[in-house]
Amino acid sequence: MNMYDSEKMAGILLEEGYALTDESQKADLIVFNTCSIRQKAEQKFKSELGRAKYLKKTNPSLKIAVAGCIAQQQGRAMLKKYPNIDYVLGPQNIHKLKDALKTDITKIFVEENPEVQYMDLPVLRKESVAAWVSIMYGCDNFCSYCIVPYTRGRERSRPSKNIYTEVYRLASDGFKEVTLLGQNVNSYRSDMDFVGLLKLLNTVEGIERIRFVTSHPRDLSDSLITCIKELPRVCEHIHLPLQSGSDRILKLMNRGYTFDHYIKKIERLRKEVPEIAITTDIISGFPSETEADHKATIDALKTIEFDGIFAFSFSPRPGTPALEMEGRLPDDVKSQRLYEILDIQDEITTNKNMKFKGTIQEILVEGVSKTDSDKLSGRTRGNKIVNFRADNSCAGRLVSVEIVKVMRHSLEGKAI
Ligand code: 5AD
Ligand code: SF4
Repeated sequence: MNMYDSEKMAGILLEEGYALTDESQKADLIVFNTCSIRQKAEQKFKSELGRAKYLKKTNPSLKIAVAGCIAQQQGRAMLKKYPNIDYVLGPQNIHKLKDALKTDITKIFVEENPEVQYMDLPVLRKESVAAWVSIMYGCDNFCSYCIVPYTRGRERSRPSKNIYTEVYRLASDGFKEVTLLGQNVNSYRSDMDFVGLLKLLNTVEGIERIRFVTSHPRDLSDSLITCIKELPRVCEHIHLPLQSGSDRILKLMNRGYTFDHYIKKIERLRKEVPEIAITTDIISGFPSETEADHKATIDALKTIEFDGIFAFSFSPRPGTPALEMEGRLPDDVKSQRLYEILDIQDEITTNKNMKFKGTIQEILVEGVSKTDSDKLSGRTRGNKIVNFRADNSCAGRLVSVEIVKVMRHSLEGKAI
């Protein structure tokens, strides 16, 4: 979501006559698009800001803008503490970047924006075959650990017409894949629901693949499962954050489901769409998590066998209910549990990937591989990365590839 917001800010700046540069010494403007989902991201930002301060000494006309969720939550305090910052923009106000640049005085834009879903901002996308498209903003779920509802505001869905127009244009521009973005895409509701939207977008000629993130387990309906099964352009992959395998912790997290509910959804998904790839998010070391709760998460991973997970140590965030909860765990316990989770999942992912060996997969080729410049790289419909040797003319196309080798985080293939 943040990376997509950065593309929008770049789009706005391009219209204002700016161009991107990789060299910060040459920049007239540096925009930090910050994330505050966990503390680590905040620390990274603070050290980068320190570096930018020195650039201002050699280039006094350099402007510094801080956008994103840290700006939203700490903007006012930040302006006092770091007088080198020129503009502060919360995630609901990135369109104000244009106005901000036209003023000489420091500006702060952090108010709630009830019109955020109607804004069609220009987007500077990187050259690729795959594009992100926002379908909704904000979140109303208030999971007890999560800062998003406080920084991105209330849940608001974009009108389907605007989304359709954007996807249609992307197809005309040669994009072949869209990933629909929202904090909780299955609760999308404008003039239609999420299933209606998928059916509508499935009609756009030229778009070969439709993905979506993130789905909330509580709102995953049978009709969405049927869509994944029946709509040819909708990929067989779902990211369905579990967070914990313990019902007690899920309740404290305010997730709105039990492990039993969750696993029933998984069973249904796998029954209807046997080839579906399922990935998840896990938080280790939530306040008061016992060894037994942690074991419930490990057991859940072993039972479900996800295709991949993103796992994080619990990070206390300002303003969230979990910050005040009893039983905060020491860092070493949290990281030890996290490593255990990651180790077990590594083994599961490798074993699952082994099943692909010898199979033929449809790959949408994104370009040259990041790890080996002699190879091309693309993804399966289930979102697995495949590297393989082929000439550059394959870039941007769908090709059939035989999987010949399995690595921990990717597959190696042979074009056929
Ligand atoms: N601490 C650790 N992980 C968190 N996430 C969200 N908030 C926190 C937090 N305070 C994780 C959740 C979510 C993912 C995007 O980030 O797992 O699904
Ligand atoms: Fe945060 Fe929960 Fe909303 Fe996801 S669903 S953004 S974890 S509050």
